[in-house]
Amino acid sequence: MQVIILPSARDVALYAADCVVDVIDARTNPVLGLATGSTPIALYKELVVRYQSKQVSFRHTTSFNLDEYIGIADSHEQSYRTFMNRHLFDAIDIIATNTHVPLAESQDAGTLKKSAQDYEASIQQAGGIDLQILGIGLNGHIGFNEPTSSFASRTRIKTLSESTVIANKRFFKDGEFQPHLALTMGIGTILDSNAVLLMATGKAKAEAVKAMIEGPLSAMCPASALQLHEAATIVLDEEAASLLALKEYYQWCEQKRQQLHEGNVS
Ligand code: PGA
Repeated sequence: MQVIILPSARDVALYAADCVVDVIDARTNPVLGLATGSTPIALYKELVVRYQSKQVSFRHTTSFNLDEYIGIADSHEQSYRTFMNRHLFDAIDIIATNTHVPLAESQDAGTLKKSAQDYEASIQQAGGIDLQILGIGLNGHIGFNEPTSSFASRTRIKTLSESTVIANKRFFKDGEFQPHLALTMGIGTILDSNAVLLMATGKAKAEAVKAMIEGPLSAMCPASALQLHEAATIVLDEEAASLLALKEYYQWCEQKRQQLHEGNVS
């Protein structure tokens, strides 16, 4: 794992934007894995700025989002499709049909199962994901892979944990139907990506971040599965990094990495 600790949430977003642009520049037909939640909003804002100032084009990019609520329409205010259109897709030149968010409006288990299988097949057909952007839940989830999700899991129906339902309650109006199920890429799907970049900011994430980086590999902290990925970058602000036992070591590693990059091995 490459652990990068930056002074502020803004720096985390800028770092992530650089990584996304690097992948787009390096590939003829880049495939991005995208995430929803409050953390990546600043990243998407920055990507829109870079698109508007002609530093990047998404014309040849394909995207796959991690997850979608089951039982609400794509057009619903709180669907992850609406979130992505609003925060990114509608503001850049990505081709709408190349943007994929799991299709999860149906309430029929067979239809949802087929949709999950088709999602996995579409990722394969696109050649796999070059860079998967991730956030982390307070309980260590990635996508909607809640604690005890299998590290081998694929896209499937997942029941949200109580803590996730409570954390997301703020987005739904009083009395409004709030989904308790989601269609989510599995941990196995995420681990298949060529590279992953997990962003975490703020004090509230410090416990989950510590468990992910320094805790045991455990299904109780789904993000700890990233310890198994050979190209996982974890980019944190100071607050999210505040409980790490080896914080100074990660900073030292970064300095060394920079020196190596500049050809200096002393
Ligand atoms: P957040 O969500 O960015 O809104 O904190 C992260 C997640 O649950 O994956």
